Amino acid sequence: MRTHYCGELNASHIDQEVVLCGWAHRRRDHGGVIFIDLRDREGLVQVVYDPDLPEVFNIAEQVRNEFVLQVKGRVRARPEGTVNPDLPTGEIEVLGLELEVLNRADTPPFQLDGHERVSEEVRLRYRYVDLRRPEMLNKMMMRSAVTRALRSYLDSHGFLDIETPMLTKATPEGARDYLVPSRTHPGHFYALPQSPQLFKQLLMMSGMDRYYQIVRCFRDEDLRADRQPEFTQLDIETSFMNEEDLMNMMEEMIRQLFKDVLGQYLPSPFPHMSYQESMLRFGSDRPDLRCPLELVDVADLMADVEFKVFSGPAKDHKGRVAALRLPQGCELSRKEIDDFTKFVGIYGAKGLAYIKVNDLSKGVEGLQSPILKFLPDDVVMAIMDRTAAEDGDIVFFGAGKASVVNEALGALRVKLGEDRGLMEEGWRPVWIVDFPMFGWDTKTDRWNSLHHPFTSPKEAHLDILESDPENCHSRAYDMVLNGTEVGGGSVRIHRREVQERVFTLLGIGEEEAREKFGFLLDALKFGCPPHAGLAIGLDRLVMLMAGADSIREVMAFPKTQTAACMLTNAPSDANPAQLRELSLRVRLPQAEEKKAG
Ligand code: AMO
Ligand code: AMP
Repeated sequence: MRTHYCGELNASHIDQEVVLCGWAHRRRDHGGVIFIDLRDREGLVQVVYDPDLPEVFNIAEQVRNEFVLQVKGRVRARPEGTVNPDLPTGEIEVLGLELEVLNRADTPPFQLDGHERVSEEVRLRYRYVDLRRPEMLNKMMMRSAVTRALRSYLDSHGFLDIETPMLTKATPEGARDYLVPSRTHPGHFYALPQSPQLFKQLLMMSGMDRYYQIVRCFRDEDLRADRQPEFTQLDIETSFMNEEDLMNMMEEMIRQLFKDVLGQYLPSPFPHMSYQESMLRFGSDRPDLRCPLELVDVADLMADVEFKVFSGPAKDHKGRVAALRLPQGCELSRKEIDDFTKFVGIYGAKGLAYIKVNDLSKGVEGLQSPILKFLPDDVVMAIMDRTAAEDGDIVFFGAGKASVVNEALGALRVKLGEDRGLMEEGWRPVWIVDFPMFGWDTKTDRWNSLHHPFTSPKEAHLDILESDPENCHSRAYDMVLNGTEVGGGSVRIHRREVQERVFTLLGIGEEEAREKFGFLLDALKFGCPPHAGLAIGLDRLVMLMAGADSIREVMAFPKTQTAACMLTNAPSDANPAQLRELSLRVRLPQAEEKKAG
């Protein structure tokens, strides 16, 4: 139906007759001449209708925004003074010779360039209109370019693209499962995969050697800007590779990707940082290294001060007292400091103490702070020393449970970096390594896997697995880019007895292990190679590359915060016959029942 895309035309096409198809982006009536900006996937071109051709002109007059058109015309140079340097096709226009309205359109629910004035819900309800916006089309095209480049890398490195089941058994990745009732096995359920973890390990046991899959994963968890209930992983597994081999290969893949798609160069190699160092310096295991600010431990200095807010956590081995110095922060107003105090409150911090450094040469006299009266002078000066404070700085303090202090000051660090324009330009990847195997879950009073239960402990820590699980480290690694965890993986357990010991430690008894993971334990008996892998969060990676601030912006049909699809109205009721067939009866919680009834 067409000879060219709109956006592809340029001066080299002058005098050619072309046929274009697309949407009327805008129609302007300029004293007898009609201009239609015709839009398709590749861009916009201006089409001009002259009253000298009355038949075509009359049709052009009836065109409204978003009508679907087929245009036949001749490309010509724009008259002098009307060249539009902002438009790739801005040197030329098309003189319209024929025009067919292929379809009319109601007034769209929002104008494509007025999307900012409507809520995200409206954009999602009319996603097919929203996706017509050039910014959205570009993001979808970038996403496609990303998967193309990743596939090309993996295909040329001997990886096999293999699909794994969607109707399966639970895979523990720390979220709730989405369940699918079985009709043929009444009362039984499939789980949609939280990841293909166990299948990809089984593929290694099957001798496939190198596997990848661009695969949908399902996790019923609290949603945030970088979390969706269904999302896409680039899932990878390899045999006979250790963590160094795998990390090297994966970072090479990502470097190649950024070069191919963005023409940008990532550092080589990516730096490695231990989990412990990352927590100490940045309060987070996904540090944004573009921000130069760092946390500094001061607990040892605070242990004996009278101020209980500090000395309490300083003496508690689960507590933390940390300082965060902001250069030139003296100029912060009372109100700004109050706002930062509210900000850390979101993370559970009970306050945000600070010291303003006016003039260090005057000693404590040159400092200004509501907490000075609680702290001995030598402690204060030791803190100044340790934080390398200089005149004009402000030093913030967080004290309390280590997890709260880390989250609060870790987030404050990035916020200060952004608010005060301290973030470096560019890409700062880092591998976080040397993770603890387990974290203590205070809700269930037992150990949890920090990664997943199939992650191998460090060989050297096998001896302390049971006696000192807290200090047992795993062979896991996370790829972090500009403060976002884009991927994670590990060397896996390939020996049955180690897997059994880990299950036991996690409080998974023999019977439960057999019932849930019997197939894995069996497979481990029949010649399992050492293997390692990782999964990249594709949506997050594309979000970063596209400069978007939410993964919803790089997904064609994302869900809302409550995991609903505005477009199709999913989830929805099932009809009684369907439920009967599945041997299901719906019993809403009482409050819901009242609402429904
Ligand atoms: P993990 O659970 O770390 O590892 O997931 C891998 C990557 O997937 C992305 N991700 C998500 N993206 C969007 N929405 C979500 N709800 C979401 N959850 C995770 C993150 C994360 O780094 N089987 C292991 C991988 C392995 O060990 O090979 C796994 O799934 O970017
Ligand atoms: P208060 O004695 O509670 O008024 O606190 C004195 C100062 O310490 C105030 O600036 C508070 O913001 C700060 N503060 C209180 N609790 C904490 C905490 N857990 N961590 C850091 N600063 C705190």
